[in-house]
Amino acid sequence: MKVAADVAELRRIRGLYSGTCGLVPTMGALHAGHLSLVARARKECECVGVSIFVNPIQFGPGEDLAVYPRSMEHDLDLLAQAGADFVWTPVTADVYPPGFQTWVTVEGVSAPLEGRCRPGHFRGVATVVAKLLNVFIPDRAYFGQKDAQQVAVIQRMVQDLNFQVKIIVCPTVREQDGLAMSSRNAYLSPAERRAATVLYRALMAAWARYEQGERNPAELRGTMRSILSDEPLASLDYVSAADPATLAELDSIHDRVLLSLAVRIGRTRLIDNLLL
Ligand code: PAJ
Repeated sequence: MKVAADVAELRRIRGLYSGTCGLVPTMGALHAGHLSLVARARKECECVGVSIFVNPIQFGPGEDLAVYPRSMEHDLDLLAQAGADFVWTPVTADVYPPGFQTWVTVEGVSAPLEGRCRPGHFRGVATVVAKLLNVFIPDRAYFGQKDAQQVAVIQRMVQDLNFQVKIIVCPTVREQDGLAMSSRNAYLSPAERRAATVLYRALMAAWARYEQGERNPAELRGTMRSILSDEPLASLDYVSAADPATLAELDSIHDRVLLSLAVRIGRTRLIDNLLL
């Protein structure tokens, strides 16, 4: 596995491969969720590139950029074991050199939910993903369903700006008790870790009602809210039952519905979702 820091070196390595190329963008602190994307890319592509970059422009002023978990050596071991061919590990100045002033803003779909709670977040995500697509020139790029709105934003950007890449969405990988794997789970104390299962429990309760025939989105939101209100360590940012492509809240369900929620457990903000 080859590791490059600067863009020119990464491009040179990329040029050594012909055939289908898969890209897995990450911010490091890799866990089984990330590795499932690498495994899927490995299965489907002749070469697999991964980026590890904690993208400062997608973090808000009060957020966890400074303390975001970093484990580069371990990450590179995991990627080598997973069969990645090359990894880009840029520093911030490689990605945003002095004078940088170009941004990608995906408007409507970035606005609600995470966009409302984290202003500027999706502008940061779309900008860095556009750059990653231009640097790696992949045929396929792999993203997790865990970040459902991120997927919707990237799909919109790829369509609107004619990127020649297929976006592949991979299922959320969970701990045994249902908690979605996340680099941010490392922030949780043991008591918070137990409380954090409330996100999955809320989604499962809404799913059970859907299975029983409930098709009123307000009822499904209400079910999630009531499970969350029983967990003293959890404070709710939002619950949503929305169209998975536009993220617009639904009044009625005719086709697919994305149930999603964002919850603070102590100082840690967690998100999860379920596509029905
Ligand atoms: P990061 O949070 O490191 O996640 C990298 C990729 O792994 C994303 O596509 C995310 O959805 C996926 N992922 C995370 N947890 C997962 C889980 N439990 N199951 C399945 N997939 C999971 O998302 C980002 O980084 C950044 O925003 C990035 C796209 C790299 C741009 O900076």
